[in-house]
Amino acid sequence: MEKKNIDWSSLGFGYVQTDKRFVSNFKNGAWDEGTLTDDAEVRISECAGVLQYSQSCFEGLKAYTTEDGHIVTFRPDLNAARMKDSCERLEMPVYPVDKWVDAIVSVVKANAAWVPPYGSGATLYIRPYMFGSSPVIGVKPAEEYQFRVFCTPVGPYFKGGAKPITIRVSDFDRAAPRGTGHIKAGLNYAMSLYPIMDAHRNGFDENMYLDPATRTKVEETGGANFLFVTKDGTVVTPKSSSILPSITRRSLIYVAEHYLGLKVEEREVFFEEVKDFAECGLCGTAAVISPVGKIYDHGKEICLPSGMDEMGPVTKKLYETLTGIQMGRLEAPEGWIKVIE
Ligand code: PLP
Ligand code: COI
Repeated sequence: MEKKNIDWSSLGFGYVQTDKRFVSNFKNGAWDEGTLTDDAEVRISECAGVLQYSQSCFEGLKAYTTEDGHIVTFRPDLNAARMKDSCERLEMPVYPVDKWVDAIVSVVKANAAWVPPYGSGATLYIRPYMFGSSPVIGVKPAEEYQFRVFCTPVGPYFKGGAKPITIRVSDFDRAAPRGTGHIKAGLNYAMSLYPIMDAHRNGFDENMYLDPATRTKVEETGGANFLFVTKDGTVVTPKSSSILPSITRRSLIYVAEHYLGLKVEEREVFFEEVKDFAECGLCGTAAVISPVGKIYDHGKEICLPSGMDEMGPVTKKLYETLTGIQMGRLEAPEGWIKVIE
């Protein structure tokens, strides 16, 4: 199979229309078989649940070309399980987990020419999503839904790739204490659009959200969880019921403990402690691990000792081990890698 003629190494994190996507419709209480289609357009009622009351959720995962030339995905079963949680919280019908993974595999296979080559620095980002497609005007769930999966080749989420970024403490909240912060609802991201644009207008790359109830604890950013490293090399990551349970973060905890022999603490992290950490990074499918060099808090700056030039040493080891597993350079724990072809 011949790859598309793309300058892979100059890709940013954007949408490129690829050849095929998967579509399945939920009608009369059941999902249809689903199919691959060339049609990248969606046609729904003007009164569709997603358009009126934002009834939608999504996932994000990647396909990689390994060192020995296979195409693989990373822990898609966990994305399927998380989408099930999202659907249940949003009164949407669950798409069966095994068929969900099959849909991912079929989309990646059908777009194999778009999977960036090994060593190019790019990957194939896969976006499964679901939305209420039938009309609703009273506030209630739709009766019909569409589940779709498309993919697009991407480069680094933050411009500059592995260069440390500057974030600021946000005055806005991302999620309510008993709200939807723990699921991947489209509405969470709608809420974050003003704060992210405001951060960019003021020269910051991202927002650090604090816990909405007390504003004393670190939660996450708009699209990634936090990892901190203490001066004695312990990895610390915030625990909260209103953050998204990042698959990357859960994997990194395992990697830290079992591959690198590091101590890991998953616990509440008070903002007060942040000035004492040695390293800070953002982790997620899109972010991979993006190092944070500086945190701005209302006129005060916290400069991480790892600086603005490079990733801190522990962050770097975590990054290299995780991407080594994803790209097939290191042996993966049982069940983490799904070989597509
Ligand atoms: N937090 C938020 C708000 C996200 O949108 C994402 C991205 O999916 C993450 C964290 C990272 O999660 P994962 O590692 O599963 O991609
Ligand atoms: C991902 O990492 O997959 C996400 O969904 C985050 C999003 C901000 C791009």
